[in-house]
Amino acid sequence: MTLLFVNAKQVVTCAGAPRGRVGAEMRDCGVLTGTAVAVEGDRIAAVGSRAQLDARYESATVIDCGGGVLTPGLVDSHTHAIFGKPRYEEQERRAAGADYMEIARQGGGIHSSVRDLRARDGDELLALARPRLARLASYGTTTVEVKSGYGLSIDDELKILRVIKELAAELPMRIVPTWLGAHEIPKEARATPATRASYVKMLRENMLPLVVAERLAVFADVFCEPGVFTIDETRDLLLAARRSGLQLKLHADELAPSGGAELAAELRATSADHLAAISPGGIQALAKSGTVATLLPGTMLFLGKGTRPPARALIDAGAAVALATDFNPGTSPTPNLPFILTLAVSELHMSVAESVLAATVNGAAALGLAGETGQLTPGFSADLALFDVEDIRELPYWYADRRCKRTWVRGKACHSSDLPIT
Ligand code: NIG
Ligand code: FE
Repeated sequence: MTLLFVNAKQVVTCAGAPRGRVGAEMRDCGVLTGTAVAVEGDRIAAVGSRAQLDARYESATVIDCGGGVLTPGLVDSHTHAIFGKPRYEEQERRAAGADYMEIARQGGGIHSSVRDLRARDGDELLALARPRLARLASYGTTTVEVKSGYGLSIDDELKILRVIKELAAELPMRIVPTWLGAHEIPKEARATPATRASYVKMLRENMLPLVVAERLAVFADVFCEPGVFTIDETRDLLLAARRSGLQLKLHADELAPSGGAELAAELRATSADHLAAISPGGIQALAKSGTVATLLPGTMLFLGKGTRPPARALIDAGAAVALATDFNPGTSPTPNLPFILTLAVSELHMSVAESVLAATVNGAAALGLAGETGQLTPGFSADLALFDVEDIRELPYWYADRRCKRTWVRGKACHSSDLPIT
């Protein structure tokens, strides 16, 4: 099937090197006018003038973009989309002065989602996840990373990863699965240093081999944070994951600096995520290692924290910065990636081009997919998003609005605003 996208006011290609963009490379996201895009099968075939492509693709099905803006499909490279109930009561507790970590120490936070998820079967989780992923897609996301991490036992983590696998087979979106068995030390393992150590050992020696044997994950991730997993535990787990063939991610320096970014660089992890409390040494280390710095400013906003990840310092140091929602029930219940672009421009002082590249090419790089998606360039996967705006600068401008009209993944229709989301 050949498609010809015409009548876009702007085509934003994000074209360039198939890797995380750094520094001055992030200044230009490739805004073209008078441009059409041809798709053959699941690939972008050509980007050029309408007249040229009309002649070359005479029998193509024409898709009229209606004066909107056509972009690469957005890449949300960090979500925890598989969970049971929402946790709105914690938002009010924080408003009344409670802190996120304090709520967790009292058995809430991740522990609360773990108790809830363990009581549900895979079918229930699947039914809850489908409309949530449809919401993510409805804002322009075509590739989404989804983590496990609310199970924290072999059976429950495998249950989540199987749900993710099922969703990946069933939905048009590209779904990248991450094993996050090290999201928390479960309550039952917190009793003594010995029970804690045996949880880490169980993750490494029992759970990881099962995840790998069933091919349930591409990435391994660890919540490396004071009060959760230490630097040594994180290194131990991630080295084992790498030996088993998984790529690496870290939740690093989210709330307090503990050397997480430095560890990500040392391990040459694909990405280090959060980084609101990154040290100056961590910034330099990420810039040198090529590890993508994935920023999740929605989380800091929702937690009511005054701190924000230092996007400018990271970009200026030469790090590849990506943006993602961190969609999860505790710290960032938004499926809206364009809203994260608003935070990037208004609060992190990123330019529009930088924020668009951070949610396309660099999001893809954070998933090891920079050669496959994230740009409208011949040969890349035909992943596109059409927005009801005339200028790409309107994407972060109409904040928290849903301007996405349609998306395509691998050349096939994914989201359409004419259809109900659930
Ligand atoms: O990325 N920081 C750790 N994990 C999630 C929050 C999970 C939760 O509170 O349920 C995050 O913010
Ligand atoms: Fe997270």
